[in-house]
Amino acid sequence: DSVGKDGYRHYMEKELHEHPQVIGQTLQRMVDPSTRRIVLPDLPFDLARVPRAIITACGSAFYAGMVGRYWLEDIARLPVDIDVASEMRYRNPPLVSGSLGLLISQSGETADTLAALRGLRERAVHILSVLNVEHSTMARESDLVLGTVAGPEISVASTKAFTAQLTVLACLTVATARARGTLKASDEEELVAALLDLPSRVADVFGQGDAIRQMARVVAEARDVLYLGRGSMVPVAMEGALKLKEISYIHAEAYAAGEMKHGPISLIDGNVPIVAAVPSGPLFDKTSSNLQEAKARGGRLLVFTDTEGAGRMSAMAERVVVLPRVHGFVAPILHAIPMQMLAYEVAVLKGTDVDQPRNLAKSVTVE
Ligand code: G6P
Repeated sequence: DSVGKDGYRHYMEKELHEHPQVIGQTLQRMVDPSTRRIVLPDLPFDLARVPRAIITACGSAFYAGMVGRYWLEDIARLPVDIDVASEMRYRNPPLVSGSLGLLISQSGETADTLAALRGLRERAVHILSVLNVEHSTMARESDLVLGTVAGPEISVASTKAFTAQLTVLACLTVATARARGTLKASDEEELVAALLDLPSRVADVFGQGDAIRQMARVVAEARDVLYLGRGSMVPVAMEGALKLKEISYIHAEAYAAGEMKHGPISLIDGNVPIVAAVPSGPLFDKTSSNLQEAKARGGRLLVFTDTEGAGRMSAMAERVVVLPRVHGFVAPILHAIPMQMLAYEVAVLKGTDVDQPRNLAKSVTVE
């Protein structure tokens, strides 16, 4: 009802606007305000000695895990294996005992994720779960729970729980890197500062509402949409495509931009909008040339970039949404939000049942 929605049209819209607060609250739980260092609860294992992490989850939580893989490999130098839980539960990967099983779930009740958790547990893997519902079945069966402080999420399509998961994984990465000695103190300060700066930067994203609605008009007319990104923007593109499919029923595919030439480029014509997440940074030029290739084949470019990338992207794209420039580490968290907002605006234009999309459930407790 409209009371629960606080005047917003849908729970999803309300929950989108909770991003800054949710990221802030999640950080408050993990960052010591006086030292500005990440503080984890007492761990029943030693992060410095973990030989490998195995990340598994479903849906949006899986994409959060994919971003976590980029971070843990790059910053903490920790080898990572990752798969969707419905596969992980039946895979039989060789596991080194003492590895870290990292499970991610909003509800803590998803059947596949729970089964994967139990499978890893049996094989002497430490279980660390990133959960929003802290009294869930997965919470009871984990060695340690890191809570996302997202509050109840009513909309079937996940929004704020996803950025809260990313926030926790970012903090876990910094703590793991410190334990493993892969991060200088000054770099650690820089990463924590970037995280603490996020809630206010995220609040700025809502100022782009009109530009996002203009993009939504292009997407709403399409039958197929291609989402592109590189590096930690690949899972962000996947989250954007998933959200669009879930609530607008438009077919969308996400690809690593560099992989486009090995297949999806053949699909591109003037009817296929290309949504790309292109923050400035080391992968900016490479992604730009992929977008040029798409444009040369008639693709309509709809680009999310930042203040530094805005000039170059405006010269080539049909529509550009300019986000604040943030540290590359936290860019996937920031960029995920307008991706979700775009899907929301498209669904509103299409008139779908945004909060209760057909055939989907908030928590899938059967296999
Ligand atoms: C369902 C929801 C998704 C969610 C996924 C995993 O498919 O519709 O939004 O990402 O389940 O749920 P979990 O509770 O494990 O995060």
